[in-house]
Amino acid sequence: MKRVFSGVQPTGNLHIGNYLGALKQFVELQDEAECVYCVVDMHSITLPQDPKELRSHILDIAALYMAVGIDPKRSTIFVQSEVSQHAELSWVLTCNSYTGELSRMTQFKDKAKGKESAPTGIFSYPLLMAADILLYDSDIVPVGNDQKQHIELTRDIAIRVNNRFDKKVFVVPEGRFMKEGARIMALDDPTSKMSKSAENPHSRISLLDDDSKIKKSIMKATTDSLARVHYDVENQPGVANLMTIYSVFSGKSMEEIEKLYEGKGYGDFKKDLVEISIDGIRPIRERFNEIRRSQELITALDEGREKASVIAERTLKRVFDTFGLGRK
Ligand code: TYM
Repeated sequence: MKRVFSGVQPTGNLHIGNYLGALKQFVELQDEAECVYCVVDMHSITLPQDPKELRSHILDIAALYMAVGIDPKRSTIFVQSEVSQHAELSWVLTCNSYTGELSRMTQFKDKAKGKESAPTGIFSYPLLMAADILLYDSDIVPVGNDQKQHIELTRDIAIRVNNRFDKKVFVVPEGRFMKEGARIMALDDPTSKMSKSAENPHSRISLLDDDSKIKKSIMKATTDSLARVHYDVENQPGVANLMTIYSVFSGKSMEEIEKLYEGKGYGDFKKDLVEISIDGIRPIRERFNEIRRSQELITALDEGREKASVIAERTLKRVFDTFGLGRK
């Protein structure tokens, strides 16, 4: 059976970009593979976090995993910092990567903006992500488009180490991306990605937003003056983005949506999108509220840590042995 691994940073509440680009795949893959899903809290300290808030966000993300439909009986859900092998493997990968390839990462370039004071963690972050993936001998990594370059780097390092030792030290993973939803754009600016940290709360829809906030954000969303529901990313990026959200929540194709709104303005389309989005998000929010304070969540994370640690230690020992490092 193939193994799936993915992770989400606990830097705030998840938005529909995270859900439609990544988490929806996490849920679907449970039927065909052995899935390991991590709350990647060590990634989030690349930027300063309030310790109390971070603790709470870790549990929020784990509860959201379960609320969207990840079943801890079938899949492993755990917190990265509780499995120390991630950091240990990350060092081995650091020693098998080049500063040139890390400097080419677009996320690093965007965040560091050429400043000498940019945190080193932002630079080396893709190596911790590579360690997350390689530690679980992962075959498939479901993510949004913004992680494509990091997956390529992971593959390059895995192949490099395998070639050096002329054996399969690492499984070479593959990214998995949604056909629609791999890159959901901000509602107030369809040229930039929907993000957890953007200042305007109406730029995104969080999975924990109440119905009136969802409605307000959609009704305010940027469109254009062409007044036709037509999928054209270049000339109508705002409408195309809303159509993508509509499509992934409803299962309807772009052609079906275009037909449905032929001759109608954006008002009708947005009103229906509000309903479809609320129907998609409300059950998640309600389940989250039940799970977040439950013992079920704590038990799932304890069991998850145990299961993840067994796999992680087995891989790390294999890697350390290969490099001649000590591991009893
Ligand atoms: P993070 O926490 O920023 O995002 C979590 C997941 O959501 C996807 N995503 C989006 N998809 C579509 N549209 C958007 N606007 C959007 N914004 C975010 C991301 O691609 C991601 O799949 N580096 C990762 C976390 C990570 C990881 C890993 C992932 C750490 N280690 C190992 C996979 C495997 C990150 O920062 O994701």
